[in-house]
Amino acid sequence: MLTLAGVAMSGAALARLEAAERRPSDTKPSQRSKPHQAGAAAVCLADFEPLAKERLSHFAYEYISSGAADELTIRWNREAFDQIRLRPKVLVDVEKIDTRVTLFGQEMPHPILLAPTARHRLSHPEGEVATARGASEAGATFVVASLSTRRLQDIAPAAKSPLWFQLYDLRKERREFVRGVVKEAEQFGCRAFIVTVDAPVDGARNRVQRVADQLPPGMETPYYQKASAAAGVVLPIMGSMGSFTWEAVEWLLSVTRLPVVLKGIMNPDDADEAVRTGAAGIIVSNHGGRCLDTLPASINALEPVVQKVAARVPVLVDGGIRRGTDVLKALALGAKAVLIGRPYLYGLAVNGAEGVTKVVNILREEFQVAMALTGRPDIRSIDRSVLWT
Ligand code: FNR
Repeated sequence: MLTLAGVAMSGAALARLEAAERRPSDTKPSQRSKPHQAGAAAVCLADFEPLAKERLSHFAYEYISSGAADELTIRWNREAFDQIRLRPKVLVDVEKIDTRVTLFGQEMPHPILLAPTARHRLSHPEGEVATARGASEAGATFVVASLSTRRLQDIAPAAKSPLWFQLYDLRKERREFVRGVVKEAEQFGCRAFIVTVDAPVDGARNRVQRVADQLPPGMETPYYQKASAAAGVVLPIMGSMGSFTWEAVEWLLSVTRLPVVLKGIMNPDDADEAVRTGAAGIIVSNHGGRCLDTLPASINALEPVVQKVAARVPVLVDGGIRRGTDVLKALALGAKAVLIGRPYLYGLAVNGAEGVTKVVNILREEFQVAMALTGRPDIRSIDRSVLWT
């Protein structure tokens, strides 16, 4: 039977959540709800943000939650999902709901991945190690960012499901360093590389600019060369991630046999070029609204990319996915899988590995419910006809 196990909310839990959301500015840490209580109170992904805000430093919250400029793209990422209506089909046997997918030969219990995000130690002292443990508990593939604050030798043993690894700066002068990172990622069993192609320079991140002087120490990023160990901080928090071209993708393809997936593609012509260059997959993404403000919602960019790619490689999408119905809508528009960013960072802040697990489990259970209530018992049965047009 399909139940939302573990997320039913008692009156007491509701009261705790409301108390956490009130967050008086003079609340002392000792007065705040304990991590396990806070995690217990959350029944949907949105519940994690106020709970996380209570625990994160001001800098960390601004860094995670903010986007570029006026944050219109962040808003549109959500609004676009909200505007899509669903079309149910009744009297279908939905006794069993099968969410399994296969990506690059890797079978996954569900199509929800953890997007690469920088500096998990801002959210939790264990950083990416806790994320890996929490992700694998929920059967989610975790994409380790090159701005990871922990090394793979610590992250990989914590992960029961395979990791992927994200790369940023493929400029020629960085390639010897990147080659070493690629080899290390392969050695620790990573199954795919994601190259982020939408951030040759950082966006106008005004909210981060305002708090940049509050950067905490101890955030070294061993896989990203700009870390300044001497200063004890990562520099720059803002600045160039490196401008490179299709030639750099060809170079990466020449040094690894693992699938190379390009992340941050919104333009169907770029998607076509990516496939012709040899990319094994594409992630339609506007970087969660953190790079170029006023880009459209990524869910609105998905279908034109899917049409152009014409099933040559899998297309994934991220940006604003907060509900199981969002996962369903993304798959209906042609995505093979989705990635989430901020929600799992909030889960990590609230309750470490357990918080990450709970975020994924809630989203997966909501997705199963959405499949059952639209009469789509397996992934194959999800197509455009589940959308109300
Ligand atoms: C990111 N994102 C990101 N992407 C990437 O390719 N490399 C990176 O280092 C980071 N770092 C990063 C840090 C933080 C704090 C956030 C919130 C995001 C973008 C991320 O992979 C993804 O595209 C978005 O987070 C998806 O949008 P949502 O789910 O956060 O709305």
